Amino acid sequence: MTDSGAGSLSAAVRAAAATLAAAGVPSPRVDAELLAAHLLGVGVGRLRALLLIDGPEPEGYADLVAERARRIPLQHLTGKAYFRHLELAVGPGVFLPRPETESVAQLAIDRLAPLAGRRPTAVDLGTGSGAIAAALASEVPQARVYAVELSDLAHAWAARNLQPFGVELIQGDLTDAFQELNGLADVVVSNPPYIPAGAVPNEPEVREHDPEIALYGGGADGMTLPLAATASAARLLRAGGYFVMEHAEVQAGRIAALLGSSPQWSDVQGHRDLNVRSRATSAVRTAEPIS
Ligand SMILES: C[S@@+](CC[C@H](N)C(=O)[O-])C[C@H]1O[C@@H](n2cnc3c(N)ncnc32)[C@H](O)[C@@H]1O
Repeated sequence: MTDSGAGSLSAAVRAAAATLAAAGVPSPRVDAELLAAHLLGVGVGRLRALLLIDGPEPEGYADLVAERARRIPLQHLTGKAYFRHLELAVGPGVFLPRPETESVAQLAIDRLAPLAGRRPTAVDLGTGSGAIAAALASEVPQARVYAVELSDLAHAWAARNLQPFGVELIQGDLTDAFQELNGLADVVVSNPPYIPAGAVPNEPEVREHDPEIALYGGGADGMTLPLAATASAARLLRAGGYFVMEHAEVQAGRIAALLGSSPQWSDVQGHRDLNVRSRATSAVRTAEPIS
């Protein structure tokens, strides 16, 4: 592969896919195509058409492929992540939104949408890139959406992504954020950090590039932040309000038991992700006051 733009596109993409496969990248051909499409400023459909007529290799392709082979996340190289119908700006310092979280956002949207007529209130705890909050605000535009993020860098990415949707974003701790909304929220949603301290992720893209503050939930079981998000949801929601939280598969039983045994919650339900793993739990706030 050359970096002069003089080589053939199809040969360059083939070679890139082989390089990425050798580096252990999970979807080498797709990533090779997406990097070429990014440099050419086209979608994958157009890129595949260009491969058929075999245009020239785009300038800078070899460098980008080499970075991806070093397991820099694809989204850091393109500066974009896709979440539901949204294109979000991402880069170093922010957690990359995941497909399983799209289902968690859907559960929140399903509860929010029927309330659209009375301008319902939704809160996203630990918003990262702003993925969930942006999905809520764009898909239920009548909703008033609030989001909190602790990290400086993630907050800056979220500010950029949420500005077009009128989401009220604050930098702060999800433990005590939005006191002014206590007992008023209709929906609280969270994908908090939840990885147990010892469960260091295998993939270099996650281990080395997702910020630690976004990954580890605190404590040996990773439950400190999920429990804090649950307590905040109980504080923020009105009676009848809906809480949904993503978590690790191993935490599903404990979270269901905790919510199920609390007088603050009813209608506790587990939700499976696309790989049929128990990765989210929802519950409805009862009228029971916080002790
Ligand atoms: C797993 S990431 C999820 C980000 C985003 N909600 C998503 O689903 O893509 C968790 C986020 O919570 C943030 N966070 C960690 N501790 C926090 C705290 N105490 N208060 C607010 N945000 C926190 C992290 O910086 C990170 O952005």
